[in-house]
Amino acid sequence: MRLGNVMKKLRKAVFPVAGLGTRFLPATKAIPKEMLTVVDKPVIQYVVDEAREAGIEHFIFVTGRNKTVIEDHFDVQVELYNTLAERGKDEVLARLQRMQPAPGQTSFTRQQVPLGLGHAVWCARDLVGDEPFALLLPDMIMQSEKGCLAQMVDLYEKTGGNVVAVQECDPAEAHKYGIVGPGAAAHGGFTIDSMVEKPKRGTAPSNLYITGRYILQPQIFDVLSAQEKGAGGEIQLTDAMLKMKKDQAFFGYNYRGRTFDCGSPEGFVEANIAFALWRSDMHDYIAHAIDGLYGTVKPVERRKATR
Ligand code: G1P
Repeated sequence: MRLGNVMKKLRKAVFPVAGLGTRFLPATKAIPKEMLTVVDKPVIQYVVDEAREAGIEHFIFVTGRNKTVIEDHFDVQVELYNTLAERGKDEVLARLQRMQPAPGQTSFTRQQVPLGLGHAVWCARDLVGDEPFALLLPDMIMQSEKGCLAQMVDLYEKTGGNVVAVQECDPAEAHKYGIVGPGAAAHGGFTIDSMVEKPKRGTAPSNLYITGRYILQPQIFDVLSAQEKGAGGEIQLTDAMLKMKKDQAFFGYNYRGRTFDCGSPEGFVEANIAFALWRSDMHDYIAHAIDGLYGTVKPVERRKATR
């Protein structure tokens, strides 16, 4: 759906980073889970890089207590940059500068109480204002030549409205996610018929799960402001989207690429392996190391393995 003749450009992205990361204790006792590294970049940097590639100009972080290091990470570290320059470490300096948001391109606000994803998104309402925005859940990182959000923007430029990225999951896992029921094919995506957050086993309308990338119109904030608690006793974004679907078009986009759930230790380790293998300077070493370990390292009881 085009909103009149003017489709506002997508300039802003919201990153909800308030979660406690309890599944990663003790690693996350003092470090936010978004700052854990996949190969040599924090998880949050992958997601911000994906947004920048898609043309995003303003990065809005919904943080919580003990997350100030995320703000520091996106700041200019003057002394560090000077030292790198003095020591001739031009390559690493250039890499840091490429990832560096420009002055004024970041905003931070806090979700004071953990009331759910819908509430976290709502906390960004004043910073987003009256324009469409991208929403990227940093638990999920994606691997593809062209980033997931950039792929979605291609669809959005044809359809307008709201776009949600999906992929197929094992039907036995559907209860862990938001699931969409697909309608008709449209412009390389499809219209969404239904959406349900964490469906009870055996009730999901399909196996297409919401991967954590969205393009949303700002009216979602009005819906969220009146949204009641849903699955898990939390204010759910999926419930609000379902409500907004009565007035606005929602399109699904079948993301072409790999998705890693860095919210779970297994997915996080998998992401590390996949991103190491993706790098030409590491591929052979890591492939060889995996080969050597697999079959020789036998599992031991978890308590012994992790102390
Ligand atoms: C959230 C969303 C869900 C989506 C998932 C992807 O759930 O509510 O619709 O499928 O992210 O990771 P959460 O992981 O916060 O339970």
